Amino acid sequence: MSKTTAIINQKGGVGKTTTALNLSYVLSENREKVLLIDFDPQASLTAALGYNADNKINIQTLMAAAIEENELEEDYIINIKDNLDLIPCSLELAGIEMSLVNVMSREMVLKSVIENIEDNYDHIIIDCSPSLGMLTINALAACNSIIIPVTPEYLSAKGLGLLINNISKIRKKINPNLTVDGILITMINERTHLSKEMTRVLNESVDSIKNKFNLDMKVFQSKIPISVKVGEAIMNRKSIIEYNPKNKVSESYKDFAREWREW
Ligand SMILES: Nc1ncnc2c1ncn2[C@@H]1O[C@H](COP(=O)(O)OP(=O)(O)OP(=O)(O)O)[C@@H](O)[C@H]1O
Ligand SMILES: [Mg+2]
Repeated sequence: MSKTTAIINQKGGVGKTTTALNLSYVLSENREKVLLIDFDPQASLTAALGYNADNKINIQTLMAAAIEENELEEDYIINIKDNLDLIPCSLELAGIEMSLVNVMSREMVLKSVIENIEDNYDHIIIDCSPSLGMLTINALAACNSIIIPVTPEYLSAKGLGLLINNISKIRKKINPNLTVDGILITMINERTHLSKEMTRVLNESVDSIKNKFNLDMKVFQSKIPISVKVGEAIMNRKSIIEYNPKNKVSESYKDFAREWREW
């Protein structure tokens, strides 16, 4: 059975897309078959993979077809490399979010898209937008696991509490199979005292959130350091794993993938 994982945080710029991309690369290099879904109208993941989905079949076309109950004849999955496929996205996904308002079972549209293809994959990884709107609710209804990237500057217990509260509502109402795997600290400068203090504060907030919502989740031991190479890799339309496999960020995404697989 495939595992469907949403990379979520309503806060922008915390490393969701970078994590979706690099985790997928590591898994695909370990011969697991991975499908990436770009589910953010900003389409950063699609762009990072050097693809332009304007006027082509993309996730919003698939959602529209699912709403209309139309079958799509054309092939809509982009092969990126061995074991790694992409369903791309363009800005128009924002329009789908509006049109979902009048749709029955509007939370379940992405799930119905995924159900048709999930048997072909070991992992489906969904890169979410920085919001808690209807698109994110669709991702939460479609997935069975969640990774929450956070940066040391944004260890707001309030923001995290709001997110977990939403996740826990979806779990009660529409998706009882939903689990939060954990929180991944990204863009950390481990040498600074501030980062150590922030990590400690985060661990404390997670403990209290876990108790409050009766959820089993953890803060991953593996943390992703900050490095200018990540930006360079993006400029070159590559994951950091391809661009600079020995870089500390590449190594830490490999450690993280291992820790996550074993959890
Ligand atoms: N480990 C890292 N070191 C340095 N820069 C990083 C690192 N991870 C991500 N970045 C950079 O930080 C920015 C935000 O990262 P990313 O796009 O992955 O975040 P996001 O959560 O997906 O953002 P959004 O909410 O806008 O979708 C990008 O410019 C990215 O290149
Ligand atoms: Mg993103």
